[in-house]
Amino acid sequence: MVSLKKLAVSTAALGVALGLSFAAQAEMMIGFSQIGSESGWRTSETASIKAEAEKRGIDLKFSDAQQKQENQIKAVRSFIAQGVDGILLAPVVETGWDQVLKEAKDAGIPVVLVDRGVAADEDLYLTKVASDFVVEGALAAAWLAAETNGVCDVVELQGTVGSSAANDRKEGFESVVGNFPAINIIRSQSGDFTRSGGKEVMESFLKAEDGGKNICAVYAHNDDMALGAVQAIKEAGLDPADDILVVSIDAVPDIFKAMADGDTNATIELNPHLGAPSFDAIKAAMAGEEVPKWIKANGPLYLPATAAEEYKMRSK
Ligand code: AHR
Repeated sequence: MVSLKKLAVSTAALGVALGLSFAAQAEMMIGFSQIGSESGWRTSETASIKAEAEKRGIDLKFSDAQQKQENQIKAVRSFIAQGVDGILLAPVVETGWDQVLKEAKDAGIPVVLVDRGVAADEDLYLTKVASDFVVEGALAAAWLAAETNGVCDVVELQGTVGSSAANDRKEGFESVVGNFPAINIIRSQSGDFTRSGGKEVMESFLKAEDGGKNICAVYAHNDDMALGAVQAIKEAGLDPADDILVVSIDAVPDIFKAMADGDTNATIELNPHLGAPSFDAIKAAMAGEEVPKWIKANGPLYLPATAAEEYKMRSK
């Protein structure tokens, strides 16, 4: 019979071996500073990155900044103090990051910007994994110009003030409508990327523009604000997507439902699955490999013709 002592030794050995292999499996410890959960898209981005980390056995330290930059700066500093292998940062606004990015760089910790950019020296971060928001804005404008034969008074629901998403989507849209003298942005204000913000601001636009009679279209920097605007348009007794055209960005499941119901006209997809390219970039940097400064993730334009099918597929 095996002596208890022998058993104890082999179990301990087994435990250590197991401990080691799990430790070996937890490839990396990564800090993720997320902006918050202001939209359906952001919630799916968070879920996707967490699932990818779990799949890879990555020890992910997640922080929700509740839309505040100071919380993100605090989170990045705590990640540095924890000695993480890498940091994922979704910067709520574009400016004010130089100092904390320099601290991460001095600590030898690569920072990947996910989905949004910063107005800081490229040397201060490893790479940006994001869509080209200027292209998204330009695509929305091109669709509107075609749909209206270049004649339209449009109101704009902007995203979070100071965010690269809002700045670039505005710039892209204006760069195209600027070629169409009969397309005018008659009102523009931030709805902060939220459904309630979109509804509130659209209500004020409708009131200010003769109950909406002067408005040909609403361009929303994201689907959640567009869905809020649709509600406001209906409550004003008008028909969204008909009396007032609706074009937005994200391609969340709910926008396809609204499009299939005839309440919106077009959306541009923003890919939420940014975990895999971000973790790959950190791993490549740790192996001393070159990483491009911008890993692009642009998506297509969707129209009502495929909306019901898209909704069925994405709302599973
Ligand atoms: O940065 C991307 C934007 O952030 C998404 O379009 C929007 O839904 C989110 O708030």
